[in-house]
Amino acid sequence: MKKKAYIFGRTGQLGKCLLETKPEDFEVLDVKNLCLTTRLSIMQDILDKKPDVVINAAASNSVDSIEDSIEYALLVNGVAPVSMYTVCKNMVGTMFVHVSSDFVFGGGCNYKKKTFTEEDSQYPENMYGFTKHVSDWIFTYLSRHDKFNNALMLRTSWLFSEFNDNFLTKMIRKLEDDREVYGADDVHGSPTYARDLAEVVWRLVSEKVSGVFNVANSGCVSGDSNAVSKYDFINEIAKACRLNVKLTKKSVNEMNLKAKRSVSTALLCDKYNDRFGKLRDWKDALNGAVKRFKDQTPCDSGLR
Ligand SMILES: NC(=O)c1ccc[n+]([C@@H]2O[C@H](COP(=O)([O-])OP(=O)(O)OC[C@H]3O[C@@H](n4cnc5c(N)ncnc54)[C@H](OP(=O)(O)O)[C@@H]3O)[C@@H](O)[C@H]2O)c1
Repeated sequence: MKKKAYIFGRTGQLGKCLLETKPEDFEVLDVKNLCLTTRLSIMQDILDKKPDVVINAAASNSVDSIEDSIEYALLVNGVAPVSMYTVCKNMVGTMFVHVSSDFVFGGGCNYKKKTFTEEDSQYPENMYGFTKHVSDWIFTYLSRHDKFNNALMLRTSWLFSEFNDNFLTKMIRKLEDDREVYGADDVHGSPTYARDLAEVVWRLVSEKVSGVFNVANSGCVSGDSNAVSKYDFINEIAKACRLNVKLTKKSVNEMNLKAKRSVSTALLCDKYNDRFGKLRDWKDALNGAVKRFKDQTPCDSGLR
C-alpha cells in the first residue's frame, strides 16, 4: 500500500516540484485548499486524513508587503506550522516536514556575518524573516533538546524554479524586455533549485530523518565565504538564457524596497552535506531550471 502525503502549498513552486518528484511508493492526498489562518480546520483535516507525512511547503512570501500586514503572515508562517507539528506529534507515526528560510538570519548583531549554520543565533532583518523565525525558532529549540522526533525542518535560501512567478522567471522576463537591468551587489544568499530541494524532502522522508538542516545548492559559498550576490545571480541567469543585457551594479539601499535586506543570509550546509552528500552546483541547477522553463513555455520570444 502506498504511503499518504498531505502537502500544504501544492500550487507554489516547491509544491509543484514536490508533486513532480514524488517517489512511486507515495500518493499525494487530494485535499481541499484550507487557508492556513484557520488552524483548527487544518488540524481537524490532518486528523481526518491520517497521512503518513505532512509536508508544509506553504508560506506567505511577499517580503515587502508583509511589512504592512504582519498579522496574516504571522498566522501563516509562524502559527500554522506549529499547529501542524502539534497535531502530527499527537498522531501515531505521522511525520512532519517544514521548510524555513535563510531570512531568519542576517539582522541585529549578525548584520556583518557572511554565512550561517544551524547553530547560529537568529536575528531577522525584516518582518517576513520574523514571521518565519517564530516557527523556525520553536522547531530549532525542540531539536536542540531532542524533542523534534519524527519531524524535519529544512532551511533554504533564494528558491528558484521554472514554475510560477519567482525570482528566476520574473528576471528572465525582465532581461528579455529591458535593455538595462540593475542587480544589488551588497545582498548575498544561496540560490537553490526548488526541484533539488523537493528531491531532498522525499529522500529524507523515505529515510525517516529527523532534525534541522540548512539545504542549498553547492558552490554558493566559496573561499572566505564569498556568497552569491543578487548581481551575480542575475548575471548567471542572463548567461544561462544567452541574453546580452547591460547589467549594472547597484546598492540595495538605492532600490527603495519596503523591507530591509541583510548583507548576507547565505547558508552553510555542512551538516547536511557531510551526512547525505552535496547538492549539485547552483549554476548547473540554474541551467537545468532555465531549460525546463524554455521547454514548458510557448515559444514567443526568441529565448525559448
Ligand atoms: N521563495 C524563496 O526565495 C524562498 C527562500 C527561502 C525559503 N523559502 C521557503 O520555501 C517554502 C516554499 O516557498 P515557495 O517559494 O515554493 O513559495 P510560493 O511559490 O510562494 O508558494 C507558496 C504556497 O503557499 C500557499 N499559501 C500561501 N498563503 C497561504 C494560506 N494563507 N493558506 C494556504 N496556503 C497558502 C500558496 O497557495 P496559493 O497558490 O493559493 O497562494 C502556495 O501554494 C516556504 O516555506 C518559503 O518560506 C522560500
